[in-house]
Amino acid sequence: MRIEGATALVTGANRGLGKAFVEELLARGAAKVYATARDVSTITDPRVTPLELDITEPASVAAAARAAADADLVVNNAGIATGASVLGDENDLRRELETNFFGPVRVTRAFAPVLAANGGGAVVNVLSVLSWLSLPSTGGYSAAKAAAWAATNAQRVELAGQGTHVVGVHVGYLDTEMAAHVDGPKTSPDRLAAQVLDAVEAGEPEVLGDDLSRQVKAGLAGDLRDLYAGRG
Ligand SMILES: NC(=O)c1ccc[n+]([C@@H]2O[C@H](COP(=O)([O-])OP(=O)(O)OC[C@H]3O[C@@H](n4cnc5c(N)ncnc54)[C@H](OP(=O)(O)O)[C@@H]3O)[C@@H](O)[C@H]2O)c1
Repeated sequence: MRIEGATALVTGANRGLGKAFVEELLARGAAKVYATARDVSTITDPRVTPLELDITEPASVAAAARAAADADLVVNNAGIATGASVLGDENDLRRELETNFFGPVRVTRAFAPVLAANGGGAVVNVLSVLSWLSLPSTGGYSAAKAAAWAATNAQRVELAGQGTHVVGVHVGYLDTEMAAHVDGPKTSPDRLAAQVLDAVEAGEPEVLGDDLSRQVKAGLAGDLRDLYAGRG
C-alpha cells in the first residue's frame, strides 16, 4: 500500500520508535495520523490526531477502533521491557505478556474489521531480535515477543483473505529510552521507521532492521549452541 494519502494509527506514539513512525508517516504524505498514547496530553504535535489508547485495556482498544474507523494502517509499536524472568514472579511475567503479546493482538483483532472496510490496508507488528533469542535479563520479554512473532505469522495467514498485509519487524537495540542502559551499537529509530514503511509500501512480510537480527535469524538454521555461544 502507499503511505501517501493513508490513514495510520500508531500505538505508543508519544516517544521512542512510535514518535519516529509518526514523523516518517507525515514525511511520506499520510493523510491522517492517529498518534495514540496512554496519556494523551503527551501528544502535542498539531499535525496529528491525538487519541488515548492503553493496549492492555480492552475498553480502551475498542473505543480507539470506533474513533479511528477510517484507519487503513495500524502500527503496533507500544511495548515494555521489564526484565521479568520466566522463572520469577508470575504476575511480572503476565505483565510482560499482557503488553507485548495480548496488547498488539487485541489491537489487531479490534482493527481487523476496520481495515477490511477500508480496503485491506496493513498491520505492522514491532517485534525484536529477542523473538528468536533469550538473554539472561530478557526471558519474559523474549517469550512475549516470540509469541507475538507467532501471532504475526498467524495474522498474515488469517487476514490474507481480506487483503490485509502484515509486516513483522525484528531489530536489535534501538536508540530509545528502552535501551538507554545498553552500551554498543544501536539502530536509529528514524532509520528503522523508514525501513518499515519501505516494507509496507513494497508489500514485504518482514523487516530485519540490523546486522544482529539478520545474523540471529540465519543462525536459527544452524546449531543452537553456536547461536548462544558467548551470549550469557
Ligand atoms: N529499544 C530497543 O532496543 C528495542 C529493540 C527491539 C524492539 N523494540 C520494540 O520497539 C517498540 C518501541 O519501543 P521503544 O524502544 O520506542 O521503547 P520506549 O522508548 O520505552 O517507548 C515505549 C512506548 O510504548 C508505550 N507503552 C507501553 N505500554 C503501553 C500500553 N500499555 N499502552 C499503550 N502504550 C504503551 C509507552 O508509553 P508511555 O510513555 O505511556 O510509557 C511508549 O510510548 C517496542 O515494541 C519494543 O519492544 C525496542
